[in-house]
Amino acid sequence: MIKLFKIMMTGLVLTSPVVIAQNRPIYLDDSKPIEQRVEDALSRMTLKEKVAMVHAQSKFSSAGVPRLGIPDNWMSDGPHGIRNEVLWDEWYGAGWTNDSCTAFPALTCLSATWNPQMSFLYGKSIGEEARFRNKNVLLGPGVNICRTPLNGRNFEYFGEDPYLTSEMVVPYIKGVQENGVAACVKHYALNNQEKYRGEINVNVDDRTLHEIYLPAFKAAVEQGHAWALMGSYNQYKNQHCCHNEYLLNNILKGDWKFDGVVISDWGGTHETKQAALNGLDMEFGTWTNGLNWSASNAYDNYYLAAPYLNMIQKGELSEKELDDKVRRILRLEFRTNMNRNRPFGSFGSDEHIEAGRKIIQEGAVLLKNDKNVLPLNTHSIKHLLIVGENATKKLTIGGGSSSLKVRHEISPLEGILTRAAQEKITVSYTKGYESPAVAEQDLKGAQRPEEKVINSDSLLQTAIDEARKADAVIFIGGLNKNEKQDCEGDDRLTLSLPYGQDKLIAGLAEVNPRLSVVLLTGSCVTMPWLQKVPAVLEAWYGGSAAGNGIADILFGDVNPSGKLPFTFYANLNQCSANKLGDYPGDGKNETYKEGLFVGYRYIDQKKLKPLFPFGFGLSYTTFKYGKLTADKKNLQIGDSITFHINITNTGKCAGAEVIQLYIGENKPLLVRPQKELKGFTKVYLQPGETKEASITIGKDALSYYDDQKQTWMVDSGSFQAFAGASSQDIRSNYHFEVSK
Ligand code: GLC
Repeated sequence: MIKLFKIMMTGLVLTSPVVIAQNRPIYLDDSKPIEQRVEDALSRMTLKEKVAMVHAQSKFSSAGVPRLGIPDNWMSDGPHGIRNEVLWDEWYGAGWTNDSCTAFPALTCLSATWNPQMSFLYGKSIGEEARFRNKNVLLGPGVNICRTPLNGRNFEYFGEDPYLTSEMVVPYIKGVQENGVAACVKHYALNNQEKYRGEINVNVDDRTLHEIYLPAFKAAVEQGHAWALMGSYNQYKNQHCCHNEYLLNNILKGDWKFDGVVISDWGGTHETKQAALNGLDMEFGTWTNGLNWSASNAYDNYYLAAPYLNMIQKGELSEKELDDKVRRILRLEFRTNMNRNRPFGSFGSDEHIEAGRKIIQEGAVLLKNDKNVLPLNTHSIKHLLIVGENATKKLTIGGGSSSLKVRHEISPLEGILTRAAQEKITVSYTKGYESPAVAEQDLKGAQRPEEKVINSDSLLQTAIDEARKADAVIFIGGLNKNEKQDCEGDDRLTLSLPYGQDKLIAGLAEVNPRLSVVLLTGSCVTMPWLQKVPAVLEAWYGGSAAGNGIADILFGDVNPSGKLPFTFYANLNQCSANKLGDYPGDGKNETYKEGLFVGYRYIDQKKLKPLFPFGFGLSYTTFKYGKLTADKKNLQIGDSITFHINITNTGKCAGAEVIQLYIGENKPLLVRPQKELKGFTKVYLQPGETKEASITIGKDALSYYDDQKQTWMVDSGSFQAFAGASSQDIRSNYHFEVSK
């Protein structure tokens, strides 16, 4: 017996983890610091293995080091959900049956919540889905500033203000990355339109670059600690942003000390030497010379593939830059694929659907509600008519790379039908208007939807006839993901609603005073019928839970608390980019002539009256603001200052209000916007309840970028703080002095 015991013990001794750990290479030992693992792995790699790592091997993957047990890196779109599996070499779907995901609301909806906790919930949920699908890089979120409402991709971003975008993107990144998945913040930088995106060289002054277009990326890196970032298609200072010495080497990796990977946008790489020297780490989606767009083995022709290897072997380029790229990619590996403690994720779960529903509940923006038409009076309404194609149209497909194959998409009609049944309200539906089918192809060889003749007059007349008979009407329209709507690759041509919706809405208002208009859009639209319509709700693109979230608001189960993340202009002349800014440019250059005066900054400067201002949003209850006070009247540069204000719910139902804090300098040395958002807090109140809200700001909130000194400065002098319910609804001011 003893002998057997000895043999067993010997066996154990030989295979015990302690012994294996002593022999395990450092790079495989996750008890060792990541930097040690990086250096150890790098030292074991051959030149060819290093070069293989810095460019794609398929449409969405790049090589690891099979010999060393270092896994491939797998990227996935997009900011609103995990794209279905595509073929190795092509954009077409692979036809898997287990990759239908949860579609989360568009990022404009998330931004409209003005609630960073919603951002964390969003990032955690989408990160779980990426993790479960074994993608270690999520190609999102997008943080480009809404400079013009015509930009086809505004729906993928957080709006017109750099502070709001910064505050909302950081928790999203943290939520994603706690799953051991890298957030890849995009598109760095100055990708503020789709038209001519591939080539235009953006001319912008340094102050505007640093104060408007870079802050969200800076926050993503310095506060969010993003592990990846995507270069944009356009050029800056005549260098493509995917390999740009100013943006990537000097600012991102120099000033901000970014230690993650820079990934090109798909097809954003144009030249080997620039790609090697100007900060690009991973080349994806290049349409290689000499071979057609997606021929297999085209990857050997990538700029950072054979051409790069050859230049190094000939001594025309050093291995130093390659080693830096590989260090960053190895760091990505150890933070994601080779982090054995990361969770396993989850996919298409009820929790994720509910997370999306919560975000819609907090992000929907009540724009108008005369005579309390909303929430629907379920006692007096017996028959409800729903009108509009967006009540039924799938809005999770189309729109470009953010298109999704979803497990569920609860349409607004479905959500309303379910909820109305609980009130014994009968519901009928008529389309009212129709758009061309989305030319979204999933599977290779799939037939394009046939173009059919649309009889708009008949659709319109039927809807108006039906509306006469209903107790109340809900119109559900807006934009969609068709080309030249909310869609990547091009921009909208007007601010107007398409497909004859304006005429239809006006007709409905004529025959039924209890009309509510629900808009599903990713950008602002004009509303010529607004005076005739008592209630308007902006409900964005809600994703899988859209219908339930919208019904929650319409039936009053949830009190809307969203605030606009961008201005709803009355016309394009109110938008500085369109009025002054040389948008869309000549296809070669575009100059941001409006400078700092983007969005409400321009509205304030010109004292304009938009349709609905930045930060606007109503509630089913009302709020009273107290007087804005602060813990000091005079502060030294570098001090913080804490503002206080009471807020009371003076209505009959619980609700939440976003108190916005804007700061303006009275006599600035350099021109500055009249006021800029520098703080906000969302306060939840029961009827009659009062709370004291506090917002603390520091030196950053007072500073501006001095382009002569090339650094951030704070003037001594007098400043104003403005507390308000929107950028044009200031309830209380506070004057304070800053001295050196
Ligand atoms: C697209 C988009 C980018 C996306 C990438 C991969 O062109 O610009 O946002 O992540 O290609 O689909």
